[in-house]
Amino acid sequence: MPLVDTKKMFEMAYKNGYAVGAFNVNNMEITQGIIEAAAEKKAPLILQISRGARKYASMSYLRAIIDVAVAENPDIPIAMHLDHGDTFEVCKQCVDDGFTSVMIDASHLPFEENIKLTKKVVEYAHWNNVVVEAELGQLGGIEEDVVGVSHDDLESHLTDPDQAVEFVQKTECDSLAVACGTSHGAYKFKSEPKLAFDVIQKVADKLPGFPLVMHGSSSVLKEFKDLINKYGGQMPDAMGVPEDAIQKASKMAVCKVNIDTDLRMAMTAKIRQVFAESPAEFDPRKYLGPAREAIKAMVLHKLDVLGCADRAAQCL
Ligand code: G3H
Ligand code: 13P
Ligand code: ZN
Repeated sequence: MPLVDTKKMFEMAYKNGYAVGAFNVNNMEITQGIIEAAAEKKAPLILQISRGARKYASMSYLRAIIDVAVAENPDIPIAMHLDHGDTFEVCKQCVDDGFTSVMIDASHLPFEENIKLTKKVVEYAHWNNVVVEAELGQLGGIEEDVVGVSHDDLESHLTDPDQAVEFVQKTECDSLAVACGTSHGAYKFKSEPKLAFDVIQKVADKLPGFPLVMHGSSSVLKEFKDLINKYGGQMPDAMGVPEDAIQKASKMAVCKVNIDTDLRMAMTAKIRQVFAESPAEFDPRKYLGPAREAIKAMVLHKLDVLGCADRAAQCL
């Protein structure tokens, strides 16, 4: 089957209390690790591409890799999603490039301007049968191209549930990323992890049936953090969202859970391990291969955590 959008996935996820994993792809090995896991678990899948990924790998290479994945896995519904589009032009380009879902992240703009830009993207995307994720409130953390608020400011940038209703009504977006205390990257909390479940619940109550999205949802798995620190890395203070918190959110109205950092850490941990244990190694297949295996194992585990294993058929 060709690429699909996320409508049916979210309808099923909402109804059955699970979330679909949205994993960031930047190259072939990452994509293969994710796809192999989704195929083995018979899980619906969202492959997401950031602006940074488009710059790094070029859209045509990523598209070709994803096309192979789709052709080889006809029983798995796969959506291709733009992660954190920041302008109408980027979103339009992705719609024209064949993405089935785009995110317009205008969350840093004042409320009315966020509405205006999101609405413009929605009009163009819907005209082309592409769904739109928008964002209200602001996350923390800093990635290459996605700049968030500082940890100390997170609480004052959580999504306002009343504004969420007005935003969704006015923009007609298809899903909404809510700021509920998470951050991008590997340093999400300074001490005890804390999510604003009350915000998720209030938005869900005010927008019944409407799919929510949780960004910054990597867990910073101990296994990979320990390997990285053991083999010369320096991430002693890395801390992610506990997996039981992700599960709690996915039973509420969170239908899409974004994961990138856990992929990066799995890959980095394995490559560090190979280099440390075999310093003479210089065949990229000997370190990218184990990295791909680590990604696959990590995603297999995540799909169980999210509850989307064995859900592919119901999303077709
Ligand atoms: O939301 C951020 C994602 O982790 C993508 O990060 O812009 O460095 O590719 P990136
Ligand atoms: P993490 O940094 O927690 O993996 O979040 C990724 C993300 O939200 C991509 O949009
Ligand atoms: Zn994000």
